[in-house]
Amino acid sequence: MGVNTNNLAATRLPLFPLNTQIKDGRLLIGGFSVEELAQEFGTPLYLYDQSTLDDALAQYRAALQAEYPAQSGLTYAGKAFLSLAMAQWAARRGLMIDCTGAGEITIAVAAGAMPEQLLVHGVSKSWEDLQAAVAHAGTLVVDHLGELERLIELNKNSSRLNFPDLWLRLRPGMAVETHSYTQTGQDDSKFGLSALEFLQALEKAQKAGLRVTGLHFHQGSHFHDPTPIAPALDLALDLIVETRQSLGWMPQTLCPGGGWGTPYHEDDLPHQTIGEYVRFVAQHLMQGCRERNLPLPRLHLEPGRSMVARAGVAVYRVEAVKRTATRRWLLLDGGMADNPRPALYRARYTALPVSQPERPATDAAWLAGPYCESGDVLIEALPLPEIYPGELLAVPVSGAYQLSMASNYNGARRPAVIWLKGGKVTLIRQRESLEDLYRRDLPLPS
Ligand code: LLP
Repeated sequence: MGVNTNNLAATRLPLFPLNTQIKDGRLLIGGFSVEELAQEFGTPLYLYDQSTLDDALAQYRAALQAEYPAQSGLTYAGKAFLSLAMAQWAARRGLMIDCTGAGEITIAVAAGAMPEQLLVHGVSKSWEDLQAAVAHAGTLVVDHLGELERLIELNKNSSRLNFPDLWLRLRPGMAVETHSYTQTGQDDSKFGLSALEFLQALEKAQKAGLRVTGLHFHQGSHFHDPTPIAPALDLALDLIVETRQSLGWMPQTLCPGGGWGTPYHEDDLPHQTIGEYVRFVAQHLMQGCRERNLPLPRLHLEPGRSMVARAGVAVYRVEAVKRTATRRWLLLDGGMADNPRPALYRARYTALPVSQPERPATDAAWLAGPYCESGDVLIEALPLPEIYPGELLAVPVSGAYQLSMASNYNGARRPAVIWLKGGKVTLIRQRESLEDLYRRDLPLPS
């Protein structure tokens, strides 16, 4: 096999948090030696670098300001990673937080998010989800007509003066190009309202005296080409022309969702920037409004991954090295329990040794976890130098949809999470203990 023996570090460092460097043969993030962090907090370890989060947010804000002359806003899609600290970061930065159901609402509220910062999503919200939304959230995105019936009922019995504003989620009939498991915009998707249902929902909500202030759609997650947003925007704007005429309604806010992709692997570089994505959306929206003589709505974006993925790094210890007929296996102390994405979506990651990361590659390695199934392979065929048991490997772009989808498979204890900011490290989530594994269990009667 042809192996890239170039300086691995030079090609992979751009995937790590902004202030990652190699000094005296050691990988440093935010000025911290990753090796020392691993010693102090154990492995597998997840770290988040706040300056990288702040930078992604600044890119979004600058692009919206530069490209869109009317009002705009941003929601952080909490499903990518939500913890008390993460929700605090989003709330303090003035972001809205997209919460899927009562669970994420509870975390965001505990973090101090204000009602106007809470936006609630969910393809089939339970009564509990809806009640939590009505109690705490400023905005709720309606996904289907049955949900609207429930909301009308809740509104009748609600003592809250400020019942949430409603956005209606349109299913535009076209998805973005991505793994089929994360496509959501297509006709047959379980998400959202058809154009006809949208009109019915709007009329019903208006009759019931509910405030509908937004039109939302989301075509899928982790796309790299924004082109399919254009026809979806056109469809949405055509619908608005119709609602203006027939119901006298126009949305204050138009939200084409989130989903902008992120480079995970050196082969994904260079990658279009957040700014280029925002420009595409803004320009098409402005043009569409001009053509239809519509005023510009407030443009709202809802990124998760592109905000948080690069800020996160997973650090694993190599427990064993094994050679089989054609493969060099590096067996790590984590894998599909903390990161099911390779198994679920064939997601492709990269890694660097924490010590002497500038060593040239010798040959390809397969990085696998300790779990009892052959699908537990984190990275396939990755050029790496000779690696010995006990060494640490750092996997960049680990901030999104890893911990939020982590499990206790094979009795895995979900990892500790630390937060790096301005030369300070804070433990923001404890590693699960052995006892945690059966804390909710109860014995059989004797
Ligand atoms: N808005 C809505 C309505 C969504 O459903 C999602 C993601 C987002 C925004 C944020 O998408 P992002 O900007 O993070 O791509 N587990 C999968 C991703 C599932 C995405 C679910 N919805 C993965 O690991 O790739």
